[in-house]
Amino acid sequence: MLCVNVELQERRYPILIGSGLLQDERSYPIKHGDRVMIVTNPTVAQFYLDTVIYALEKRGCVVDHVLLPDGEKYKTLESLNLIFTALLQGNHGRDTTIIALGGGVIGDIAGFAAASYQRGVRLIQIPTTLLSQVDSSVGGKTAVNHELGKNMIGAFYQPSMVIIDTLTLNTLPKREVNAGLAEVIKYGAILDYEFFEWLEQHIDELVALHPEALQHCISRCCQIKADVVARDETEKGDRALLNLGHTFGHAIETHLGYGNWLHGEAVSTGMMMAAALSEELGDISIADVSRLEKLLARANLPTVSPDTMQPEDYLPHMMRDKKVLAGKLRLVLLKSLGQAYVANDTDHTLVLNAIRCCTQTD
Ligand code: NAD
Ligand code: GLY
Repeated sequence: MLCVNVELQERRYPILIGSGLLQDERSYPIKHGDRVMIVTNPTVAQFYLDTVIYALEKRGCVVDHVLLPDGEKYKTLESLNLIFTALLQGNHGRDTTIIALGGGVIGDIAGFAAASYQRGVRLIQIPTTLLSQVDSSVGGKTAVNHELGKNMIGAFYQPSMVIIDTLTLNTLPKREVNAGLAEVIKYGAILDYEFFEWLEQHIDELVALHPEALQHCISRCCQIKADVVARDETEKGDRALLNLGHTFGHAIETHLGYGNWLHGEAVSTGMMMAAALSEELGDISIADVSRLEKLLARANLPTVSPDTMQPEDYLPHMMRDKKVLAGKLRLVLLKSLGQAYVANDTDHTLVLNAIRCCTQTD
């Protein structure tokens, strides 16, 4: 088992990474008599809910659970309310621990429930998709969507532990594994050129879920994210770099309707748009843009805009991005592979050109 710590002083917490952690009752930071509410969905529950309940009950824990409907389109206030109702019906107090068992959707909704139920209860994240293991379960961003924008209602709220059992990836559909690889590639592109090179050598093993490559990859991503979050918990600076491709990607997700393109797929195309813009601005070389494109394509990810979306459709969505300041667009761009920066007030014509570069023509 590997352990990466998120260093946030008195709110410091560990990320445990290993194979078979869910069934081992020693993985859980729970005492005899503690009360727990597991938040999950039917897809994940069929594989892992009994295992987690069994392990927790072995620790003498009193376990409740609530099932939310599965999917990005249910990342809503209505789903959040289902958690509150279950907590209230079960007479759960401030001493309850919420466990998020699932992918990023469950993690983000359950995290927001933990941040707000009775003004805050303890949270444990058990991410079961690659994307949630390398990104969303770490760092305390929690949210639900609004029909006018993704993740618009939420809070920063750190878990007290993240438990990553890599065995859970064996039941994950391939398309979801690939979507997770988009966030993995993002880390190399923004902050770690050596990791980007490692990915070029090992991407086929990751697509095939080779255990050793996976363990190395997940722990490297968690370490990069933990370091960024420790420096800038609430995104006043460096943390924005983690959003490479996200402003374009969120526009795709919102425009197509949540769940039509997976988050990682939208981020993949969004990263290509950010790279095209960086090249237009004279930063990254054409050769590096092409390396990024090749790596994303080897992970079976899209690198061009959905064919039902026009270049002009992007900007209205992008202007609602949380990084927009004083009405000015702020975008994460690349100086080179492994070095990202935040560009302020980029000319909209250049943005539109970059989107056009990544638009299908036939
Ligand atoms: P997801 O949560 O929708 O999970 C993908 C699908 O896989 C779902 O159908 C889920 O039920 C299923 N699933 C989960 N684990 C499984 C398993 N082990 N076996 C079989 N099926 C399984 O999607 P995701 O990609 O994990 O997360 C995307 C969400 O994460 C988006 O809402 C995005 O905004 C959010 N996100 C948040 C952050 C953050 O910092 N909080 C960062 C990145 C993304
Ligand atoms: N996924 C971006 C962040 O956590 O800041």
